[in-house]
Amino acid sequence: MSQQSEPYEPLDLPEVETYTHRAHRFPGKFHPPLIAKVLRDHPEHDVVADPMAGSGTLAVEAITSGRDTICNDIDPLSSLITRGKTHPTDPDRLRSLASDIREATDFPERGDYTEEEAKTRVEENLEGTEFVVPTNLLHWFEPFVAVGYSRLLITARDHVPEEDDQMWDAIRTALAAMVRQISRADPEPVSGLEVTKVRREQLEEGVDFDVEQSFKNVSNRLAKGYEDLRTVDDLGNADVFRGDSKNFAGMCRDSGYNPTMVVTSPPYCNAIEYSRRHRLEYEWLGLFNNSPDKNAREERLDESRDFFGSVKPKQDTLRSLDPVPLTEVSEVTAEIEAEGHERKANLLRKYFLDAFDWIEQIHKVLPQGGVFCLIIGPSTSYGRVINTPEYLKEIAERQGFVTESERSYKLVNNKMQYPTNGATTDTETLYTFRVE
Ligand SMILES: C[S@@+](CC[C@H](N)C(=O)[O-])C[C@H]1O[C@@H](n2cnc3c(N)ncnc32)[C@H](O)[C@@H]1O
Repeated sequence: MSQQSEPYEPLDLPEVETYTHRAHRFPGKFHPPLIAKVLRDHPEHDVVADPMAGSGTLAVEAITSGRDTICNDIDPLSSLITRGKTHPTDPDRLRSLASDIREATDFPERGDYTEEEAKTRVEENLEGTEFVVPTNLLHWFEPFVAVGYSRLLITARDHVPEEDDQMWDAIRTALAAMVRQISRADPEPVSGLEVTKVRREQLEEGVDFDVEQSFKNVSNRLAKGYEDLRTVDDLGNADVFRGDSKNFAGMCRDSGYNPTMVVTSPPYCNAIEYSRRHRLEYEWLGLFNNSPDKNAREERLDESRDFFGSVKPKQDTLRSLDPVPLTEVSEVTAEIEAEGHERKANLLRKYFLDAFDWIEQIHKVLPQGGVFCLIIGPSTSYGRVINTPEYLKEIAERQGFVTESERSYKLVNNKMQYPTNGATTDTETLYTFRVE
């Protein structure tokens, strides 16, 4: 077994403005120059996979280096964005369609609607469509913004030809990317779905919500990204799935892909809960179950319980968990439990038990010599450091991987969360494992 632990500070590299990387501000996104370097270091792998693809950074870097990629995420917003970022439509057509949509939308001005009127208008606008009125609409959006965005949605749907799925993905990627910009929820990727202290101060100073301008910005940014993608000679192909990475081996088998390299990053332990963070986008765009049935909300919640790190996992699994076969995890969770935080201790246990499953799936997918790059940082829980990198490494080795290298670096450009009680993540580790 060869193991190296060398300094590696690729996050000092300048931000990448190219391709579609800036199409969406996604929490916990890979730093593109790091991924570009990881791929350059492994030129022999021409099919690469990411079972927890988030906003598709690996996918963009893979296709622009001429490789094919299979990507998956349980989050329907992630799948949409990853498709949108990797399947470039004609940028001029996108710009002109977005411009037609803006011109055809009647955007109201602040003060045009009372809260009650706005709610009725939005409900009327979206009735019989795939779009859903967000829960607590007027907590998250000013009345004129809510009406303007609902009109934008239905005008967009009318303008995109029914059979042009690729253009619809592009337009919806833009529509999704702007939701947080026009909401009272903090748009910074470091926040969950909340009006943070930072956002409250901005709101008090007066945020200039402009639905039309936001749509113009996001659609232009995406069109520029497509222009960049179209300059690549040998653009690879990205196949994007939506599912649980606990079934990743089956997904690869059914789709006929045989990746020889996996690059992935699971949600940070204890960090942002993606299914909650993306609720506004799910609802507006009808991405989760959008049946008008009264139980639809419950079903949506149910789907979100399969996310790793969900605070409400499916079934009552938390009380019947197997012990985690990792000494340090058992110890730290026992301490947390002894302090009266049984539920939190169980959520942590579940996080690491799930890791046995998804890492096993990656091992199943890869052939002998296959490479698994894992990027992860530590977290804290009740003042204790949860050394997630070490624990996931141990799990990978238990599942049959050999550790080839381990490189930790300081996060330079990536704020992982607003500093609260000093609990910030400022280092990450990139592991390279191999199947022997
Ligand atoms: C740290 S993010 C990945 C970010 C990604 N590397 C990027 O560059 O955008 C982790 C992802 O894991 C996904 N995830 C959580 N639970 C999952 C599960 N059970 N199966 C598949 N994906 C899951 C989340 O939806 C989230 O998109």
